[in-house]
Amino acid sequence: MIHARITGTGAYVPKKVITNHDLEKMVETSDEWIMERTGIKERRVVEKGQSTSDLAYEASKKALKAANLGANELDLILVASMTPDTIMPSLGCVLQDKLGAKHAAAFDIAAACSGFIYGLSVANAFIKSETYKNILVVGAEVLSRFVDWEDRTTCVLFGDGAGAVVIQRHAGKRGILSTHLHSDGSIANLLYVPAGGSLHPPSEETVQKKMHYIKMKGNETFKVAVRALEEVVQEALAHNKVKPEEIDYLVPHQANLRIIQAMAKRLNMPMEKVVVTVQKYGNTSAASIPMALDEAVRDGRIKENDLLLFEAFGGGMTWASALVRW
Ligand code: ACO
Repeated sequence: MIHARITGTGAYVPKKVITNHDLEKMVETSDEWIMERTGIKERRVVEKGQSTSDLAYEASKKALKAANLGANELDLILVASMTPDTIMPSLGCVLQDKLGAKHAAAFDIAAACSGFIYGLSVANAFIKSETYKNILVVGAEVLSRFVDWEDRTTCVLFGDGAGAVVIQRHAGKRGILSTHLHSDGSIANLLYVPAGGSLHPPSEETVQKKMHYIKMKGNETFKVAVRALEEVVQEALAHNKVKPEEIDYLVPHQANLRIIQAMAKRLNMPMEKVVVTVQKYGNTSAASIPMALDEAVRDGRIKENDLLLFEAFGGGMTWASALVRW
C-alpha cells in the first residue's frame, strides 16, 4: 500500500520574546487574565525587516536536513499561511526561490489555522495519485504584523513562527491514514481581516479605521471551535475504526489551552499524551501544528509507529483533522 509519510520535520521562531508582563505595559490586561483564559505566557515576534518567508525558509531547511533530501529533489512546495510576504508572488514561490528548489511547483493554501492540515491533505492526494514523490508542506505566519497592538482582545493571543514537514512516497503502513476537511463561510464574520483585498483595497480610510487588522469574536469562536473539533475528531476515529485510547499523541492546533484541554477531556486522553506549545508561542495559526510536531519528534516523545491525531480550527471558518501512523 502506498502512503504519504512524513520523513522530516523542522521549526523556527524569531528570537524576540513578548511576555504577558510586556503586554501589561501596552494594553489594559494582566498576566493572570491571559494565563487563565488562554494558557499563553509569551509569544515570539519578528524584527523589522524579517518576513514570513524568512521563518518558512529556516523551518524548511531543518525539515529537509532531517529527511536527508536536497531542495532540488522537491517536486512540490505547499505553504499554508494567512500572512504571506506579498499578495503576489505567493509565499510558495518566494520560498522556492530561497531554497533553490528549481524543480518544484509551488503554491499557497489559504485556510487560516487549519491550513497545515489542508496542506497535508493536498500532499497526500498528490502522492497517492503518484503525481509527485517529494513534497514540502509548510505552515508559516507573521501574525504580529496583522494584529492591532492596541486591541487587548486579540493582541495577547497571537505569535509568529514556522513549521515544515517533508512528505514522501512510502510503500508500507506508515504515513497519513486519513484527512477530513470542513468549511463554513457563513460564519466568517467571527474571525476575519476586513481590508487589504479587492473588497476594501488599502487606503487612508482602511488604515485609519484599522481595517487591515485581525478581528475576532473570541467567545463565539471558542464555542463553535470546540463543537466542530469534536465532530471532526470523531469523524477521523470512526473512519479509521480507531478508539481514542489507541491514539499515542494528540497534536492539536495551539489556539488556546482551554480548547486543547476540552478536546483531551472529550477524548479521555491524559494531558501527557497531548503536545502543548501554546504557553511559549501563543497562536501561530497554520504554523502551530508542524511546530508542535517538530518539538515532540526532536525531544523523542513521538516514536516510530505511534498513532498521531492532528486537529485544527480557524478563520474561514475552517476545521480539519488528520490521522498519521508515524
Ligand atoms: N485582558 C483583560 N481583559 C480582557 C482581555 C485581555 N487581554 N481581552 C478581553 N478582555 C475582557 C473583555 O473585554 C470582556 O470584558 P467585559 O466582560 O467587561 O466585556 C471579558 O474580558 C471577557 O471577554 P470574552 O471575550 O468573553 O473572554 P473569553 O473567556 O471568551 O476569552 C478568548 C477570550 C481567550 C479570546 C477566547 O474566547 C478564545 O480563545 N477564543 C477562541 C479563539 C480561537 O480559537 N480562534 C480560532 C483560531 S485563530 C485563527 O484561525 C487565526
